[in-house]
Amino acid sequence: SFRGARALQLTLAVIKPDAVAHPLILEALHQQILENRFIIVQSKDLVWKRKDSEKFYAEHSGRFFYQRLVEFMSSGPMRAYILARKDAVSYWRELMGPTKVYRARHVAPGTLRAQYGLTDTRNTTHGSDSIESAMREIAFFFPEFQAHEWIEREEPFFR
Ligand code: PPS
Repeated sequence: SFRGARALQLTLAVIKPDAVAHPLILEALHQQILENRFIIVQSKDLVWKRKDSEKFYAEHSGRFFYQRLVEFMSSGPMRAYILARKDAVSYWRELMGPTKVYRARHVAPGTLRAQYGLTDTRNTTHGSDSIESAMREIAFFFPEFQAHEWIEREEPFFR
């Protein structure tokens, strides 16, 4: 429908411990969120226990990088955001750029990971890869959040 075509979408964005540890990088990433016209629905700073990290990345438990990923993501403070925007999921993924920093630098030099990423592990940001994973990941980081109160709302309402 006409109204549905402009519907807001939610995504989960996380600034990872490598980026939170550097105040200027944290600030630059936050500015990128604002400049790209995301609505910050909620945000929080948090630190994961190792078991939180293991649970969040359970789908990768067989991969060679699982241990280092889990350890890194529970190594220090993170900042998590619920972001709203038209096409929020794909827009944030585009803004982050490819997972692998060397690849990001070659094929997408303007992206967040290309600019601020250090390694494939310390790659500054996370973003949900689908609407379904956004709902699951938002619930993981923000268990009190009532998604159904938001998903029906539309962009012009806020502008
Ligand atoms: S895949 O192959 O598409 O499933 O992988 P991808 O979605 O790109 O990555 C999943 C998460 O694993 C992290 N990752 C790594 N960490 C450490 N070392 C290596 N080599 C590595 N490769 C991928 C990657 O940063 C993803 O984390 P999130 O938090 O989802 O960004």
